[in-house]
Amino acid sequence: MGERLGEGEATGVTPSPSLSPKGERRKSKKEYEKKDYDEQRVSESMAAIVLSKLNKHYGSLHHAVKDVDLSIADREFVALVGPSGCGKSTTLRMIAGLEDISSGEIRIGERVVNHLPPRDRDVAMVFQNYALYQHMSVYDNLAFGLRNKKMPERDIKAAIDRAAEMLGLHDLLKRRPRQLSGGQQQRVALGRCIVRNPLVFLFDEPLSNLDAKLRAQMRIEIKRLHAQLPTTSVFVTHDQVEAMTLGDRVVVMRDGRVQQAGTPLVVYNNPVNRFVAGFIGAPAMNFLDVTLAKEGDALVARSPAVKLAVTEPSRRALEAWQGKPVILGVRPEHLALATDGPLSRTFAAKVEVVEQLGSEILLETRVGEARVTVARVPPETQVAAGDQVRLSVQPGRLHFFDPESEAVIMT
Ligand SMILES: Nc1ncnc2c1ncn2[C@@H]1O[C@H](COP(=O)(O)OP(=O)(O)O)[C@@H](O)[C@H]1O
Ligand SMILES: [Mg+2]
Repeated sequence: MGERLGEGEATGVTPSPSLSPKGERRKSKKEYEKKDYDEQRVSESMAAIVLSKLNKHYGSLHHAVKDVDLSIADREFVALVGPSGCGKSTTLRMIAGLEDISSGEIRIGERVVNHLPPRDRDVAMVFQNYALYQHMSVYDNLAFGLRNKKMPERDIKAAIDRAAEMLGLHDLLKRRPRQLSGGQQQRVALGRCIVRNPLVFLFDEPLSNLDAKLRAQMRIEIKRLHAQLPTTSVFVTHDQVEAMTLGDRVVVMRDGRVQQAGTPLVVYNNPVNRFVAGFIGAPAMNFLDVTLAKEGDALVARSPAVKLAVTEPSRRALEAWQGKPVILGVRPEHLALATDGPLSRTFAAKVEVVEQLGSEILLETRVGEARVTVARVPPETQVAAGDQVRLSVQPGRLHFFDPESEAVIMT
């Protein structure tokens, strides 16, 4: 959502003389040989990004970004993910300098950039619409920003060669954008950023216009690119798979606020609240309303339809919730059809829909009155709609949330 930048704005982000983090003018590329180009990058591009208490108000009513605190390490690839309208693009545009901040501070490297215009921030941004110049060849599109900087043609050619090599663009350099597929156009847009050799790459849903297969391919290319050319990157997407696969760290936003920042495994294994738990992972985590109770020595989570022993590491914290309702969460991949196993880890379910995916089957089941629960089971499983089954839960895989605050209940 949100408006898209026009070409003018898109190119206005970077083609200015680059400044080092300390604010000195960086050496133009001709001042050093191509062979020590990469070494130069290493020493110059210390570009951590620090957002402190960042806020954005649109008018008096709309508070789009709320107290965002986030430190992005030099060369780290951070994926900013959340539903449409949660403030991802606004946050990114504030880093780029395309949007004024209402309060807070943005640092890139050692500089506070709050009041620097986009062209002085040395960031390059890739958008969902590729914003290529249709009347120019691919080569000229790639050269455009550098020519604006008055870089000599010889150096421009070297920069383009290098980018074309990385992105496999050599055969396309003479073509016009309209003679390219969507994926090729997006690759050219990436190339335009690479040739500028910026301190920071900012991506705003750059793959959303591509079909699913191409999206997956471009994901891998971006990942490979980051390995070859480690540059501090912020990648905005509403797609949790994209965020999980691309990010060194995933930052989940909702309603203008950062919910959780962590490695993909941390946000998957230890979501801090019900929202993150439901947003990360597909099919989404199942949630059941249960009450915690002591039965002898055991702590059990029960509802009219389930009774599960709680052996999770959070058991100690959960003891304080005896007699109270909590939300139990369990991922589809941590449910299996039970052939044996203790009753304390299984519950009855009625199969409603069987989705055969080849690699696995998704079972939509009804547990008790109304609850639909999804389980992922092996593709050869003999199961049909209407079957009564038992589902077993992998030990240690239950999550519990406070029904009021929706925060996870932890030790
Ligand atoms: N120029 C604007 N004026 C007023 N509200 C805006 C403007 N741009 C974005 N918003 C609002 O701010 C919120 C965050 O928008 P945005 O950052 O584009 O979300 P996202 O990129 O996560 O989809 C949304 O509710 C959106 O409607
Ligand atoms: Mg957006």
